[in-house]
Amino acid sequence: MSPSFALLVADDPACFADAAARKFIELLEASDRPLVTLPTGLTPQGFYRALVMNYADRRDCWEGLRFIALDEYCGLPANDDRLFSSWLKRAVLDPLCIRNRYLFDSAADPEQEIVRMQSLLEKVGPIDIAVLGLGANGHIAFNEPGTVFSSSIHVADLAPDTIKANARYWGREDLVPPKGMTLGLSDLSGARHTILLVTGSSKADVLKKALQGPVTTAVPASYLQKLTNVTVIADHAAAELL
Ligand code: F6R
Repeated sequence: MSPSFALLVADDPACFADAAARKFIELLEASDRPLVTLPTGLTPQGFYRALVMNYADRRDCWEGLRFIALDEYCGLPANDDRLFSSWLKRAVLDPLCIRNRYLFDSAADPEQEIVRMQSLLEKVGPIDIAVLGLGANGHIAFNEPGTVFSSSIHVADLAPDTIKANARYWGREDLVPPKGMTLGLSDLSGARHTILLVTGSSKADVLKKALQGPVTTAVPASYLQKLTNVTVIADHAAAELL
């Protein structure tokens, strides 16, 4: 099967961050008031630093940008440092003065909050640019294995692998909030452009499954094979099996 994605393989972390920032800026330049979603985690850190260091003066890109949260833990107070929104504010939203923000309210009743966010996305969507990271279990945001491709914004039980991976931010696995709110795979499928960022040999197998294996809810990221405008930016370690 011919690949339905463009693949950029970066030689080192600096090239990876630079390639991601350039591609993102290229898409922003071609969009008017784009609705953008962005991931947290280790993978995009260099990308955010590259944006802040090299493109902070691109007011034309940041003023019109509308940011919608990709995912969030349930049940934390508004000012908690470990909220994904707090992390993104520190890494990218505040430094780039991105003011238009549609965030999950972690402290709200989750079921009511997803109804609010669903109706908000209906008004402000669709997403123009989705930048995504890949979980080692194939998740995208909190769309864990088994999530149906038709899912909209929903409350998710974090998979045991995700709790284990996120424990590094919480000190202990049992401290990781067990539930999150997330954009669904159908919301993400509607994105006009998708950039998937992947690094490290620990993601090589799951990246191959996502892009070249069966399209299956067992590997949520395999929904990407159904899209057309996907750019995968990886390092050599992650791309070695493609
Ligand atoms: C978090 C998110 C997740 C991460 C994924 C990879 O907002 O969307 O899908 O992108 O868990 O995380 P890292 O980059 O820490 O390996």
